[in-house]
Formats: sequence, C-alpha cells, structure tokens
Amino acid sequence: ISPLTVKASSPSSSPTVADPLGIEIKSVPTKPIEGQKTGTSGLRKKVKVFMEENYLGNWIQALFNSLSPEDFKNGILVLGGDGRYFNREASQIIIKIAAGNGVGKILVGKEGIMSTPAVSAVIRKRKANGGFIMSASHNPGGPEYDWGIKFNYSSGQPAPESITDKIYGNTLSISEIKMAEIPDVDLSCLGVTKYGNFSVEVVDPVSDYLELLENVFDFSLIGSLLSRSDFRFIFDAMHAVTGAYAKPIFVDKLGASSDSISNGVPLEDFGHGHPDPNLTYAKDLVDIMYKENGPDFGAASDGDGDRNMILGRGFFVTPSDSVAIIAANAEEAIPYFQGGPKGLARSMPTSGALDRVAQKLNLLFFEVPTGWKFFGNLMDDGKLSICGEESFGTGSDHIREKDGIWAVLAWLSIVAYRNKDKRPGETLVSVSDIVKEHWATYGRNFFSRYDYEECESEGANKMIEYLRDLVSKSKSGDEYGSYTLQFADDFTYTDPVDGSVASKQGVRFVFSDGSRIIFRLSGTGSAGATVRIYIEQFEPDSSKHDMDAQIALKPLIDLALSVSKLKDFTGREKPTVIT
Ligand code: G6P
Ligand code: ZN
Repeated sequence: ISPLTVKASSPSSSPTVADPLGIEIKSVPTKPIEGQKTGTSGLRKKVKVFMEENYLGNWIQALFNSLSPEDFKNGILVLGGDGRYFNREASQIIIKIAAGNGVGKILVGKEGIMSTPAVSAVIRKRKANGGFIMSASHNPGGPEYDWGIKFNYSSGQPAPESITDKIYGNTLSISEIKMAEIPDVDLSCLGVTKYGNFSVEVVDPVSDYLELLENVFDFSLIGSLLSRSDFRFIFDAMHAVTGAYAKPIFVDKLGASSDSISNGVPLEDFGHGHPDPNLTYAKDLVDIMYKENGPDFGAASDGDGDRNMILGRGFFVTPSDSVAIIAANAEEAIPYFQGGPKGLARSMPTSGALDRVAQKLNLLFFEVPTGWKFFGNLMDDGKLSICGEESFGTGSDHIREKDGIWAVLAWLSIVAYRNKDKRPGETLVSVSDIVKEHWATYGRNFFSRYDYEECESEGANKMIEYLRDLVSKSKSGDEYGSYTLQFADDFTYTDPVDGSVASKQGVRFVFSDGSRIIFRLSGTGSAGATVRIYIEQFEPDSSKHDMDAQIALKPLIDLALSVSKLKDFTGREKPTVIT
C-alpha cells in the first residue's frame, strides 16, 4: 500500500487477515520471552536485548492484548522518545504493531523525539488514548547501553501496576504479533500520512508543550530576569532530549543568550555521557557553577527531560529542598498556582522539608512510594498540585509526569519574582539566598543518598531480607548508637483514591529526633542490583545550617552502614554515586 493512499483499499486486496483499517495485517508467530516485567518506570534492558528478534514486538503486542479494545481501537496514541540509539527502528516497529491492532492514528514527534513531559502534555491536549515513551531515562544510550519503553494512558500518566502486571502476564503466553504491512514512515517531515484508515501525524515535539508552559508561568516575568545583563543563566541539556526544547523555550521565547545552552544537540549516545543531572554525572555543569564568578543559575535535565538539577553560584539545591521551596513560593511567583496549591506530596525516601511547608500552609499532604505513577490518582482527584522526589524529579498537576523544564521555569520564576524591582547595579537575591531563607524559616532537613550500582543481585537481595528481618524484631525505644528508634517498617502505601496497596516499598528506621535511614533496591536499573541508602536529619538551629551535608550526616551514615552490614553483603567499600 502506498503511503499516500487516502481511500481504504478494498477488502479483497488484503487476503491475509480481515482489515478494518483497509491495510493488510500480517500475523507474525512468536514465543514468550522471559524477563519482560516492568520496573519503577517501564521496561528497561540493554539495547541489544531489545534488538533481538521479537523482543520489542512481543512487549508491544502484549500491551495491546492487555488493554480493552475500546481503549485503542480507532483511537489516538502518541509516540515519542529521547532520541537514543534504536529509537528510529523501534518507532517503525511500534507504529506497525499499533496499526496491526486497529489503532486509528499515531501522533509521533519529529525524528521520533518527544520528551516524557511533552508526551504527557500531548496525550492530554489531543485527548489521546495513551502514548509510548521510548527511553531508558537517565541511563546511558548507544549500542552497548540501555533502551526502554513505557506506556502512559489517557490522563498522560504512566500505566499503573494493574496494567503493567497484565502486560507481563501476556508476555508469558504470547503467540502472535499483529503487524500492519505498511512502509516505514518518514519521521523527518511534519504532516499526516494515511494508510487506509490508519494515519500517522508527525508533529513538532515542542509546540503543544510550550503552549501549556506559557499558561502555567508568567513568561514575561521570567524573560525580564533572563534578559538582565547582571544575571547569567546556563542550561545543560546533556546531549539528551531537552536539547530539542532548550533553544525554542529559553532562547527564542524567553530571551536567554544562545550561548547559555550547553550540549544542546540530542545525540543517540548522549555524546558518550550519562544523562543524569546530578553532582556526579553533570560534573561539567557543576564545575562551571562552582567557579569564582560563575553563572548565577545553572540547571540540567536527564535523557528524557523529566528530571532536573538546580544550582546557584557555588550552590547545589538538593531535590528534596527544591520541591519544598517551589511549594512555599508557588502562589506568589507562578500564575498557575494562584489561590494556592491544592495539596503537596513526596515519595517516601524524599526528605521531610516538604512536610513542613504543607503544615505551615495548611495543605493536604501525602507520602507515596518511589515512582511518579503514585502521584497521578491524587492529582486526578483534585488533592495534589505540587510534588517531588529526591531522585531529581519535581512537577505538578499540569501534566502527569515529572517535568525538568517546568522545574527550571519554576525556579526562574521564584528568582525573577524576588528580583523584579531590582535596578541594574543592585545586588540580586540569589538561589542560595532563597534556600537559606527557607531553612531559616522552616529548619533544614539535611539529606543525602548513597547509591551502590550494579551489585550482585544475590547479596543485595539478602541484605534487604536481613533488614526486613531486623525490622520485624525491632521495637520502639531500641537504641541504635546515640539514636532511639521510634519505629521501623517496610513501607506500605494504600492509595487514598482507589484503595490499591503497594507493599515492600523500602525499609525505614525512623528515630525519635525525626532522623531516618532508609534502604531500597532501585527499580530502574538494567543490570544487577542498585542499593540505595537514604539518610536524613532535621536541624532547626540556623547557626548549623551552613554545615556540609556529608559532615552533618556522618554519624547517621556510619550507622546505616553498620545496621545493614552493607560491606559484608555486597562487598562494596564505597558508593558509586553520592547525592
Ligand atoms: C524514575 C522514576 C522516579 C523514581 C526514580 C528512581 O525517575 O520516574 O519516580 O524516583 O526513577 O527510582 P529507583 O527505583 O531507581 O530508585
Ligand atoms: Zn527521566
């Protein structure tokens, strides 16, 4: 069938299968493949695994087998990705299987590019039935590295476990993939191509998303800051998907200078980088920001554009503080929150800084397990406006994903609002001033996370089992060095909207002074096990707020290492990443 066929072809021209869309659908026999269970955020594996014969096709077909036909037949699905290696080939496979299963239309970002938050925005704006995101987020890309796929449904939110469990179940019994016999779609030109009644629209990945952001923020306020000669801004796109967004938004719309964007071209291997905006992997940006006379504001985003890191000159804003500060300032600095946010939420391991803002502003507050999908129900139910995770995720109910560029614009709005009456030559209120003022008002929650990446799964699992056992034997009042236990548990969450229960979400020891040590295995790695230890301690005394977090937390870190016997179980002397 030619790509420009507008009329449905006659049924007799497709002898293989009934073709309600007027295209031929071929049945590809297949067999179940082990290990297609999705983690915290979709299915992630080495790209070589995804490139094996039917690996991707099986999962996509299993997804269609899991949805009710009314959720996709003749419907619209969005497709986008972070530009990593294999996305182009994968786009073609997904489009053909979608057509083979009776989807009516695919909206795909030009060159297959669309950030995770933009996919969420487009699903909502175009009233699509859902969408696919081709990304392994912050994991490196290229022939030797990772690939991933995630499905979001009609609210723009990652599919809940009830759907992903079904998909997994169907991957274990799959026998056939339905593929439309259509040519590869040219993803380089905007516009609609029809194949029978099925069509593909290649869309600009930026415009719908930018329009939404313009409704959330006061762009002229932000623009007035970015165009000041006494304010220097730098954004590191890490050669990942926000490269496609940074220039149109920060430079073309908001007037930042064009040299304020670094690594602004999305590359299939992220320029050999590890596109995770933290102190370890965004080191180039950190070095620039810590130089004498460095820029006033620095930010970075990850592979698929949903994470963010915010820096002031010589100053790192920890993500747990970032969401608290955005929440505390949202009403005055961001038009979308006029009248005040509805409620606030954080993931369990994220520090309690946000809790204090909720308390002071008298807002609804929720603590959910790690994973953005847990926020969506609360948003849909009108209970939640602003939320965040220690894992560099911050966002709001403008969409149903965390949003890196949103976080940068939120921070720029706060800085702009604080400085809107400052004349040239007057000293500006800086990022670090804003954070320190916040600590002075609310107290400081010192926080750090230690990651031990790619450990042997066996040792890591044994360590968690050991900790669960310890929890079951522990009781309030137990002494842990100089700390007294308030309680210890393995976090369980009951969704207040639909009553669903998520258990075994992280082992936590909470002490009587509010300090916490928490242990989890990451659900986003692609090889081995990543152990995460989260350490937190509250400090009300502002004379101690300038202390380095690693020094302030040293006694608790040592306690966490000894309580967990981490060295014995994993053989690891040192973490791979500290944030
Ligand atoms: C992704 C998810 C987040 C999660 C983070 C870390 O970015 O979207 O919700 O907090 O990964 O998850 P992990 O299971 O690796 O700790
Ligand atoms: Zn991401």
